[in-house]
Amino acid sequence: MKFRSSSASLISFISFIFLPSLISSQACKKSCGNQLIRYPFGSGPGCGDPRFQQYVTCDQQNLILNTHSGCYTIDNIDYNNHVIYIQDPSMSTCSSTHPSQGFSLDWDAPFAFLEDNVFALLDCATASSPLYNSQSGLNNSIVPLCDNEGAPICSSLYSCPTISRLNLPISTCCVYTPIDLGPAFEMNLQRLQCTSYASFYSFNGRESNPGSWKYGIALKYRFNVKNDFPSACSDCENSHGVCGYTGSYNSFVCNCFDGLNTTTDCYFTASMNNNVRVLLWKFGTWMISSLACFLIWAL
Ligand SMILES: *[C@@H]1O[C@H](CO)[C@@H](O)[C@H](O)[C@H]1NC(C)=O
Ligand SMILES: *[C@@H]1O[C@H](CO)[C@@H](O)[C@H](O)[C@H]1NC(C)=O
Repeated sequence: MKFRSSSASLISFISFIFLPSLISSQACKKSCGNQLIRYPFGSGPGCGDPRFQQYVTCDQQNLILNTHSGCYTIDNIDYNNHVIYIQDPSMSTCSSTHPSQGFSLDWDAPFAFLEDNVFALLDCATASSPLYNSQSGLNNSIVPLCDNEGAPICSSLYSCPTISRLNLPISTCCVYTPIDLGPAFEMNLQRLQCTSYASFYSFNGRESNPGSWKYGIALKYRFNVKNDFPSACSDCENSHGVCGYTGSYNSFVCNCFDGLNTTTDCYFTASMNNNVRVLLWKFGTWMISSLACFLIWAL
């Protein structure tokens, strides 16, 4: 009887030492699926730079870019060059064609297109599309929206089996380069009267082989004027924390692995935690040995 109650208290004592470390966890995640999340991105409210929170979210498996034209999977993030690569399931490539509504970036989103992006609009209505009849200049002059230099790109794309099967005249392809391609980039295919589009950001060294081009959209992001990492945030990340900004003043917090937030980095909480654990551990071994003594004495 005595033995049972003491082993029960021993078990509850051991779980008292170890459970807290299992229960409390970091509020901000370090990864989304198998993708690493670093500043300025975050896994949820309060995590990462507040200006990015509404545009980039984690749906458990993937980071997602949200714009008013839709949600797009972020394939890859180049943290050194500040570029994200996204996929649009409605986009066409050399191996598949899809009807699409287009792609748009919100005017206030902290993203801009990488110069290497090429948008080719496919199957456009040559007679009525504003692409060929635009009168949108300041003095109502004709503004070219299709790039003449894009002709080789169009003929390469139209030679892809899935597109060539549609038997479209090459004039229905438009490499879209509006001169004033600002932050409020709108590619509304309904308005432009095109059926679909292809976007790529690299010829992959093989300009004449559209099957090997890198399809997708590459966007640069900016988080401050110089794009310098905030120093508090890099200290936090170096100590295995996650940068967050919370409260009505968006003040900086370093979110540490044990669920604690600090205003500096996680080295302090780590060492404090270790000290507490060491103390508990010493106390625990002392308890166990005294219990053992007591049992031996009682028997
Ligand atoms: C710690 O910070 C995160 C992210 O900013 C926040 O969601 C969480 O509520 C904070 N936790 C505490 C205990 O303050
Ligand atoms: C329209 O404006 C452009 C420059 O913005 C100028 O070169 C062109 O001559 C103008 N056309 C007319 C018809 O005024």
